[in-house]
Amino acid sequence: MCRVHNPETIPSLEVIKKMKRLRMSEPSLGFIGFLLVTILVIFGFFLFDYKGVIKGVRFNSQSEKILWLKLNGVVGKGTKNEYLSENGSKCDIFSGDWVWDENYPLYESRNCRFLDEGFRCSENGRPDLFYTKWRWQPKDCNLPRFDAKRMLEKLRNKRVVFAGDSIGRNQWESLLCMLSTAVPNKDSIYEVNGSPITKHKGFLVFKFIEYNCTVEYYRAPFLVLQSRPPANAPTKIKTTLKLDQMDWSSTKWRDADVLIFNSGHWWNYEKTIRSKCYFQEGPDLMMNMSIDTAYRKSLHTVMEWISQEVNTSRTQVLFRTYAPVHFRGGDWKNGGNCHMETLPDLSSSLVPPHTWTRYTIFMELMDAHLNLSDVNVLNVTHMTSRRKDGHSSMYYLGSKVGPAAMNRQDCSHWCLPGVPDTWNELLYALFLKHDNINDWRSSISHA
Ligand SMILES: *[C@@H]1O[C@H](CO)[C@@H](O)[C@H](O)[C@H]1NC(C)=O
Ligand SMILES: *[C@@H]1O[C@H](CO)[C@@H](O)[C@H](O)[C@H]1NC(C)=O
Ligand SMILES: *[C@@H]1O[C@H](CO)[C@@H](O)[C@H](O)[C@H]1NC(C)=O
Ligand SMILES: *[C@@H]1O[C@H](CO)[C@@H](O)[C@H](O)[C@H]1NC(C)=O
Ligand SMILES: *[C@@H]1O[C@H](CO)[C@@H](O)[C@H](O)[C@H]1NC(C)=O
Ligand SMILES: *[C@@H]1O[C@H](CO)[C@@H](O)[C@H](O)[C@H]1NC(C)=O
Repeated sequence: MCRVHNPETIPSLEVIKKMKRLRMSEPSLGFIGFLLVTILVIFGFFLFDYKGVIKGVRFNSQSEKILWLKLNGVVGKGTKNEYLSENGSKCDIFSGDWVWDENYPLYESRNCRFLDEGFRCSENGRPDLFYTKWRWQPKDCNLPRFDAKRMLEKLRNKRVVFAGDSIGRNQWESLLCMLSTAVPNKDSIYEVNGSPITKHKGFLVFKFIEYNCTVEYYRAPFLVLQSRPPANAPTKIKTTLKLDQMDWSSTKWRDADVLIFNSGHWWNYEKTIRSKCYFQEGPDLMMNMSIDTAYRKSLHTVMEWISQEVNTSRTQVLFRTYAPVHFRGGDWKNGGNCHMETLPDLSSSLVPPHTWTRYTIFMELMDAHLNLSDVNVLNVTHMTSRRKDGHSSMYYLGSKVGPAAMNRQDCSHWCLPGVPDTWNELLYALFLKHDNINDWRSSISHA
């Protein structure tokens, strides 16, 4: 990633370096050097003060940046409408800033049994904790503070289902941790089939027995069906994606009370054609279909399925948009990294262009299905693009193994506690909003 240095400050930094060198070699000049450095530092503070009012400013040092972000955090609170109030209802909760908040994180990973080792960054040796301290502050309103007990009460006798790829699993585990903070007896939360959480494929269903509520994850990275190729297919084809059929587990999602989709990370060359997986529509193999076209078709199938198979009066459907990856200098297999990132970006981070392709295709499909007005979009792509500091990087191998090799980093998944908690706070806000609207509807119909 190329961070452009502030042209005003490079010379002064160089002057400081020169002064330092000067002080070493020429003791007589030391005092003058010291004086100059002091003046520069004071000048720097003024400059900083001035810059503080300009958005998107670039910083020389991390501590300046933190200070600025902290100040911004204080400013961020203010007298905004509550999102759940009538006045807050038009607020775009996805447009805002990351602000420093000492009240975060919402839980500690060591107190949460429901986490894959891969997400326990601090326990796996990640030295900084900054990444756990950011709260999302919408521009025009305040989010409700996450209240696990309130959410569990609302979820009594209900099912929450996540369907998608491992980033969806990341978010699902985050929600398990967030909700479990309200449950003193952790043994009252368990996987209904006794399956362990780590490295498990297929699906996992966690029950909160006191609330008769389940929080479930179904691994369906393409959302559509991946299965055997047709009988006459060329031998180079191992599997096909049936772009017009839902994943086999979709019958289990259909009647959930809250259904949260995500998709995108597997729609690339590596996970499809390179892995001998081709696209199929009806009986026909689509040997030349582009991945973007196939992705578009898969989303069309999902949206058709929602409109035909899901009773959206009963099931609240949400779709989380693509969560950007932040590999710098390569990708996951050739040395791409993110382990030096300890702070978010104020405006936007550089993310690979496929991020916006995935995002745009999804938004176009949503626009084309205006009759799906009941589907909530968890529009997290922009906000998440600024969080290059939130990834597991070298700290995904478990506390016994320790940090991974420098050239084998994970800049796709997220440390927990961390960024997916924020997605869930937004989910919480939309969930309560939906509930308010339903109450309002039923109070009208009963009037
Ligand atoms: C909502 O907005 C109106 C007009 O700005 C204001 O008069 C009213 O006090 C607000 N209500 C709340 C609960 O903030
Ligand atoms: C999603 O969020 C971004 C950033 O706040 C905003 O610019 C965009 O309009 C939003 N899109 C939708 C469809 O809400
Ligand atoms: C528990 O919740 C399920 C739905 O998830 C419901 O069918 C069942 O009746 C509930 N059990 C009790 C005892 O309320
Ligand atoms: C697929 O592309 C190849 C080479 O680009 C071409 O020779 C072939 O005719 C195409 N097949 C179809 C079915 O379009
Ligand atoms: C959809 O769900 C609502 C609320 O539970 C219910 O009243 C309605 O009968 C359902 N519609 C269908 C077609 O099942
Ligand atoms: C919703 O809109 C899409 C695209 O316009 C259409 O294909 C689909 O049949 C519509 N669904 C319903 C239930 O009207």
